[in-house]
Amino acid sequence: MSLHRLRSITIGVPGADAVRAFYRDFGLVETRPGCFETLDGGEQLRVEPAARRNLLALAVGVDDADDLARAGASLARLGIAAERSERTLRASEPVTGVRIELAVEPRLVQKPSTPLEANAPGRTLRTDARSRAALACDAPRPRRLGHVVIGSTDAAASRRFFVEGLGFRTSDVVPAIGAAFLRCSTDHHNLLIQPAPVGFLHHTAWEMDDLDAVGRAAAAMVAAEPARHVWGLGRHGIGSNYFWYLRDPAGNFAEYMADLDVIADEEAWKVAASTDAHPLAAWGPPVPAGFLAPEDIMALARG
Ligand SMILES: [Fe+2]
Repeated sequence: MSLHRLRSITIGVPGADAVRAFYRDFGLVETRPGCFETLDGGEQLRVEPAARRNLLALAVGVDDADDLARAGASLARLGIAAERSERTLRASEPVTGVRIELAVEPRLVQKPSTPLEANAPGRTLRTDARSRAALACDAPRPRRLGHVVIGSTDAAASRRFFVEGLGFRTSDVVPAIGAAFLRCSTDHHNLLIQPAPVGFLHHTAWEMDDLDAVGRAAAAMVAAEPARHVWGLGRHGIGSNYFWYLRDPAGNFAEYMADLDVIADEEAWKVAASTDAHPLAAWGPPVPAGFLAPEDIMALARG
């Protein structure tokens, strides 16, 4: 009876061929030109040629037609028009222009990954055997799309669209950077909107099995092209997930992540404007200068 899933995104980029090659290396499977699948999530990324890099569209899975009706009525109260069919509702986010589609579809059920037999003081899970994490294996692949972070010239209005209009929930807020972590599933966040001088795509994040999968996949990407490295390896404070960020050839950041907080019980989770957690990283390398405000952002704002 609600939103349950970040289904897919479409990004626009200049130099689409190089960007497509990046996401093939990243571990997504290009099933048709510019259309990419994850292991569990089906087709979750489209790459389209565009004059400048940006998020063009975002699709969310909902349980039933009542969810569409509710979102349509809420958008109408905000004065935002939506286009309705039996199984979809389409609208444009008024500030960034991102096209949004809510679609009735089944919930995603993921096959559990096999936990690593890890040894620790007082807890021996593996004896007389090498860790499988140390053995050679194929490059790990993303299980599914996790979240998207965008900049908006009116972040408050953009958030109102997603929260009051579509029914996204707020998981945490960080007033210092003007950020709110929003979800359309049990993930701690599927969408973050930050204030920016121009609407742009900050990063996409892709769920991996575990810390080793994050490290192994990102290390392989960086070994192939060192300039891809942005920030990692670390663990975020808000959301708790392990992260390693890379840069695609158009300038969008792409994050491998694992072990994100899950919010199953709305009442049990405490939305916090400030927690003991550092908003950016519990640990990790220093935040790079061009992370929060990417180097091309003023050029994007100038058009
Ligand atoms: Fe992220």
